[in-house]
Amino acid sequence: MRHLMSPLDFSVEELDALLDLANDIEKYPEKYAHACAGKKLATCFYEPSTRTRLSFEAAMLNLGGSVLGFSSADSSSAAKGESVSDTIRVISCYADICAMRHPKEGAPLVASQKSTIPVINAGDGGHQHPTQTLTDLLTIRSLKGELGNITIGLCGDLKFGRTVHSLIHALIRYPNVRFVLISPEELRVPSYIREDVLEAKHIPYTEVERLEDAMPELDILYMTRVQKERFFNEEDYIRLKDYYVLTKAKMELAKKDMLVLHPLPRVNEISVEVDDDPRAAYFRQAQYGVYVRMALILTLLEIKVE
Ligand code: NCD
Repeated sequence: MRHLMSPLDFSVEELDALLDLANDIEKYPEKYAHACAGKKLATCFYEPSTRTRLSFEAAMLNLGGSVLGFSSADSSSAAKGESVSDTIRVISCYADICAMRHPKEGAPLVASQKSTIPVINAGDGGHQHPTQTLTDLLTIRSLKGELGNITIGLCGDLKFGRTVHSLIHALIRYPNVRFVLISPEELRVPSYIREDVLEAKHIPYTEVERLEDAMPELDILYMTRVQKERFFNEEDYIRLKDYYVLTKAKMELAKKDMLVLHPLPRVNEISVEVDDDPRAAYFRQAQYGVYVRMALILTLLEIKVE
């Protein structure tokens, strides 16, 4: 039985197959409409979510399966003091596969060790968010044609943003990927990623503070929200929250075929006037999130559709 804790749990070849499957689902959805008939997905969300939880549920419903779950710690037995290990043992009796989001780093991993059904990490604290990364990879590959040969700018909260951490881990396996890390000093990529991943593997990267300076060289701009809930001090959040705002004027500095991605939710970091720019791909990205989660559910449940 397989779980998904990090995007590196899949080899590059396995990821290719998963993304191929997602593209096939996009083209021929009716072929997959009953693939999970009789199967149940549990969504165990101890932290707020709109997209991730609902896209998992939509994915399972599109496959003809059903869904059950909870969407906050207060509405589960966690409020009574139950451990994730006990919760997952019980959920294993009710469902065939589980997607879990938790504010504590490593909680889905602990759950997977006691689970008798596949567990998917749907975001653990400031650590990883592998299914957002699968979404990002599918979006980039579908819209750019390949995952290598890109200069990608990661902008915003690179310290607490788990989507950024997972995406860096995943993209370094492709040839000729260059990172431009755009953040204020306080929100730089943690040293355990900068030194132990980027430098250790000799991946080219630069760090800049001004978005305008980076714009002209980017093939992809990955914007992120300042992660309010991970700050210890409200004053710091207020000072940093509007550090970057992508506007129409800044888009004029970019390549004509640059893509703007964002895992969403957006707060102020992308002005709504950018939404109509053909390079704004964040809402298409959310749609790809459903296809890739359908492909993931089929893969982990080992269901093949001819
Ligand atoms: C992201 C997350 O939860 O980390 N959201 C998502 O799943 N699409 C990004 C964020 O909350 O900023």
